[in-house]
Amino acid sequence: MRFINLGTKEEACHYVANELLKQMISDHQSVLGLATGGTMKDVYARLVELIQMNQLDLSEIKTFNLDEYIGIDSDHPESYNTYMHQVLFDHFSSWNEEHIHLPNGSVEQLDVEAERYEALIDEQGPIDVQILGIGENGHIGFNEPGTSFNSLTSVVNLTESTIEANSRYFDDVNEVPKQAISMGIKSILKAKRIILLAYGPKKKEAVQQLLSGEITTQLPASVLYNHPSVEVILDADAYPNQ
Ligand code: PGA
Repeated sequence: MRFINLGTKEEACHYVANELLKQMISDHQSVLGLATGGTMKDVYARLVELIQMNQLDLSEIKTFNLDEYIGIDSDHPESYNTYMHQVLFDHFSSWNEEHIHLPNGSVEQLDVEAERYEALIDEQGPIDVQILGIGENGHIGFNEPGTSFNSLTSVVNLTESTIEANSRYFDDVNEVPKQAISMGIKSILKAKRIILLAYGPKKKEAVQQLLSGEITTQLPASVLYNHPSVEVILDADAYPNQ
């Protein structure tokens, strides 16, 4: 695992966008593993510019998102489906809707949906590049502390700290969904390459714990030490004192 401090949030976001662009240019049938959250907004803004500048053909790019809330419709303003369409997919008519994948958190049989999603990743993957944020509690995707490293895509309960962190997007904390369908830790590790992005002082403690090198289910991101190709891209505020 390589930790790279790029100084500013802007540099860090541009790095991640550049790596996604390079992947798409090197293989126009790339499979991208995408993440949502505040951290990724500027990554996608830059990626939109880069795709436009390079006039990329997106028709055969496939995407898999990490997670989706349960209990809100996919067209809810705060669903991750809506987020992804707003920040990335809707900017391009050549993006093939059939190649865009997010778990569907509004179906009746959620366990069946989770299994379907995992099988689809296995069928169409492996994911070439998976981008990840990190929760203040060290989660990746919605795999909260304590999650088994063998977990596959499944229905997960969000912790109070995650609900609190995500309440900034909702009018009221009570409106924040309490569950999600999330790719599991084992699903994430199937990707060929992983780039974790973290910036700002709120992420410093989780990054500090990660840097300590201890691999523990209490810090889900620490499982990334078991993967051969992981970069942790940081700004100066998230870079721990050593
Ligand atoms: P954030 O979420 O980008 O909104 O901080 C990241 C995460 O929880 O993985």
